[in-house]
Amino acid sequence: MSQQRITTLLAGTRSYLPPEHGRSNAWICGQEEYELLSKRALDDPSDFWGARASHLLHWFKRWDKVLEADEARHKYKWFAGSRLNASFNCIDRHLIDGRRNKAALIWQGEQEMDVRCYTYQMLYTEVCRVAHALSSMRIRKGDHVALYMPMIPELAIAMLACARIGAVHTAIFSGYAEGGVRSRIQGSKAKIVITADAAKRAGKIKPLKANLDPILEKCPSVAHVVVVKHANLDNVSMQRSRDIWWEDMIDDFTLNSDFPCEPMDANDTLFLLHTSGSTGKPTGIMHSTGGYLTYAAHTTQWCFDMRDDDVYWCTADIGWITGHTYGIYGPLVLGATTVMFEGVPTWPKPDRYWRIVEKFRVNIFYTAPTVIRSLMRTGEAWTERYDLTSLRILGSVGEPINPEAWQWYHKCIGNGELPIVDTWWQTETGGAMIAPMPYATMLKPGSATTPLPGIEAGVMASAGRDGEQTAAGSLVIKNPWPGMMIGVYNDEEKYQSYFSRFGCYESGDGAQIDEDGYFWILGRIDDSINVSGHRLSTVEIESVLSACPEVAEAAVVPMPHSLKGEAIYAYIATRDDVPWNDALRKTLREMVQRDIGALANPEYIQFVNAMPKTSSGKIIRRVLRKIAGDMYDDLGDVTALANPEALTAIIAGHRNILKGEPDTGAAS
Ligand code: WT7
Repeated sequence: MSQQRITTLLAGTRSYLPPEHGRSNAWICGQEEYELLSKRALDDPSDFWGARASHLLHWFKRWDKVLEADEARHKYKWFAGSRLNASFNCIDRHLIDGRRNKAALIWQGEQEMDVRCYTYQMLYTEVCRVAHALSSMRIRKGDHVALYMPMIPELAIAMLACARIGAVHTAIFSGYAEGGVRSRIQGSKAKIVITADAAKRAGKIKPLKANLDPILEKCPSVAHVVVVKHANLDNVSMQRSRDIWWEDMIDDFTLNSDFPCEPMDANDTLFLLHTSGSTGKPTGIMHSTGGYLTYAAHTTQWCFDMRDDDVYWCTADIGWITGHTYGIYGPLVLGATTVMFEGVPTWPKPDRYWRIVEKFRVNIFYTAPTVIRSLMRTGEAWTERYDLTSLRILGSVGEPINPEAWQWYHKCIGNGELPIVDTWWQTETGGAMIAPMPYATMLKPGSATTPLPGIEAGVMASAGRDGEQTAAGSLVIKNPWPGMMIGVYNDEEKYQSYFSRFGCYESGDGAQIDEDGYFWILGRIDDSINVSGHRLSTVEIESVLSACPEVAEAAVVPMPHSLKGEAIYAYIATRDDVPWNDALRKTLREMVQRDIGALANPEYIQFVNAMPKTSSGKIIRRVLRKIAGDMYDDLGDVTALANPEALTAIIAGHRNILKGEPDTGAAS
């Protein structure tokens, strides 16, 4: 492999590839090329990332320095001194590069006949009108706009309109309930909330605006609410001078009303996205304009081997980081065609995804293991009736993919031949960090393989011997990369906490490196639970449960679950004389669903007399975790336990729960 080939790759001018690559005529060819690129990226990161950024994005003004690092504070400014705009990079530049009439966004609504397709030109028109409208509502550079919307094109349009103005969007997953939405709006101090009358989900209508109204009483920052009429609900209450329909809002602006892009500094915030932190409060992760966008486009191109005529579909909801990076920003920067689907994989029948693949001839398909597992259960017959031969690359994200799901995905969807790109990353990392490059990296089912070029990942000893390289321990990233978060909104201490333990970025995941240097992710080692690929905070759930007057103490731990990966197991110590019954369980579930959302609903609720505690009164969750996971024989070191007798009762209670026998009796 010549240096010449590497140079042309970095610059994006793909050179001639030998015919034997055939279908694998990929951006990165073979292990050798991967190794050369990795070496080059680590030897001279500025040269590597500078080359990628020049090629992938349009810059109004070039940077003075590729990376300005403040090592002591762990602050990294990528492409310092430059100017660019994300909306320009996702849309405007494609109007003059031959992609004007190319489909940018293909939207499949919940109903089969409900399809909308936006070319780059059409997207431009709509985004400019919305930018004008937001601007007329006094939204300016740096203002925050919350998006509480279903998976409809207006969500993508709103994001790009914000980016055009330089306003910071903060998406809130439409499945979140009251508490989740309130804390995110309050936490971001949004001036405007954009929502819809309702979301459609598995044949049902879920009101959003009506949900939002009581929340807004406690959100003084919000001056306006924009409502997309999506489900045609009657009787949507609109508060005069605060609420406006989306249609009316854009109606004032003509179809040819260009809206100039605000030239943003590369280190201005592009968006804020909340993730569950280790405290009860959601963490507002901030991503930059220049670094994030470079990394989104870079990883979309290399991990998915994106070509110009591909139809690419990432099934993630845009309310999550995966939807931001791989549903919108990555593919649009590359001028690709991205598919957006409003519905769920199993409604009206469990063939929905495969219908879409066949209908739009999807080439690249990116989903989560939990989806694969649920479709696997419905049987192969649903996949067999569709022509899936357009597929070229499959992807997986959100949690480790178990071998059974991997094999099924590979065989039934990939016809036994397609590579599965298992991408490990996080909201904080902005894009994929550990992932194979299709047709270059040898795959091992269940492993996200090796770090991408320029990423130096490692595993540190968990306890005691901090800083020492080891075979299994804490997964860390040792050097900065452009997609890295630029901060935690209004919480510098939280930002610093990511670096305090090892002096470099700590992911919160446990991992193991095998003899070939492959990474095996073992799951979260902090207070997070990964339910169906979504990160939830145990503390957040515990605080909702503890707010119930009958509850003395709550402890929430993960348990293995065959469909969801992990599920939530809640231990509840009740106050004196409170009867243990299903009515209380129901109340507790309702509280969690109302406050956080259905996603956080505990799988099991077990009442206990006492929590296992240290002599200083701290609940030992490690032991509770083992019991919830059925690992009684291996409770670990219990010598620190002040009340070992509590364990016998908890184990017996757990057995009863699994047998489905209701708890009887009251706490004594
Ligand atoms: C956590 C991040 C970024 C995508 C969606 C979730 C887990 C993510 C993998 C993978 C094993 C994975 C980790 C990580 N995770 N991808 N390919 N293999 N685990 O974003 O909510 O920020 O959660 O998801 O535990 O820390 P997130």
